Amino acid sequence: MTSNTTLARLMKLELIIVTGKGGVGKSSVSAVLGRLLSDAGRQTLLVEVDPRENLHHLLEVPPSGGKMVEVAPRLWVQHLLPRTILDDLVREKLKVGPLVKRILASPIHQHFTEAAPGLKEAAVFGRCLRLLEGHGPRGIPTPEVIILDAPATGHGASWLGAAQLVSDVISSGPIGHMASLVAEFLADSDRSGVVVVTTGEEMPVQETLEFLETMETQLNRRPELVVANALYPELPEEAPADPDDTLFDLWAHRRAINEKELIRLSHEWQGPVAHLPLLPLDPGPALVGRLGRRLKTELGGGA
Ligand SMILES: Nc1ncnc2c1ncn2[C@@H]1O[C@H](COP(=O)(O)OP(=O)(O)O)[C@@H](O)[C@H]1O
Ligand SMILES: [Mg+2]
Repeated sequence: MTSNTTLARLMKLELIIVTGKGGVGKSSVSAVLGRLLSDAGRQTLLVEVDPRENLHHLLEVPPSGGKMVEVAPRLWVQHLLPRTILDDLVREKLKVGPLVKRILASPIHQHFTEAAPGLKEAAVFGRCLRLLEGHGPRGIPTPEVIILDAPATGHGASWLGAAQLVSDVISSGPIGHMASLVAEFLADSDRSGVVVVTTGEEMPVQETLEFLETMETQLNRRPELVVANALYPELPEEAPADPDDTLFDLWAHRRAINEKELIRLSHEWQGPVAHLPLLPLDPGPALVGRLGRRLKTELGGGA
């Protein structure tokens, strides 16, 4: 259901946005993609915006505290808080110490940046763009690709549309300029792409279908790939000797749900789908390594 063209496309993008329902494996798949692309030679930065920073568990590095942390050759990770980016924007534009302090502390700035629709989201993409253009911290390699471990799909489409929204409302000044550059970048399928993660369960598949629809109608875009994660293993051909084998029944039941939901997904989505197994592993490099080998095979890139 996938082909090496999907892998080739992912390899060429500058920004890959990974989204899906909460808890389906977005961070795990982001880490897996980070490994895959950096192993293939791309200078890669993983950006996480979830306040419950957890990519570092998966990669076994210390929490970044907002800084970029080196994970492996060509692979870096950074935890970004949208609020911090907006404050940085004020610092960068005003440059005058006391004035900056007063603005950052003012309730008007706080209120505006919290309440203005799309502003924080657009600012995250704006930061990604600047990093890709080489305006990152000194001494740290410029990323060729950023993988954004994005918030859940419930907010995902609004994330993607945020820059357009901001640029429609604010057309001038540094924020308007940033938002229009970001909107252009997100509309360019040669530069940015989306990977949607789901499990083979009813609610995540439902949310995926709704997300695909919103992406298509509001943004006229389709994801590069849907990852069906944490799937139960296929059943053996032979039935178990014991007809009351509860463990087998449980397995068969969960697997049947997975298969039903994957069929439902396939009715609405004919694009690439990669299947990843549910593994008996805790979050960490072993999980990321095994899922990575599997994803590579699924994408036709060999094990
Ligand atoms: N294929 C898998 N096999 C086993 N555990 C998984 C798999 N994918 C994710 N997990 C585990 O499920 C939990 C949620 O995954 P995570 O990637 O943090 O999801 P999200 O970022 O979408 O909230 C984590 O404990 C993670 O280790
Ligand atoms: Mg996560």
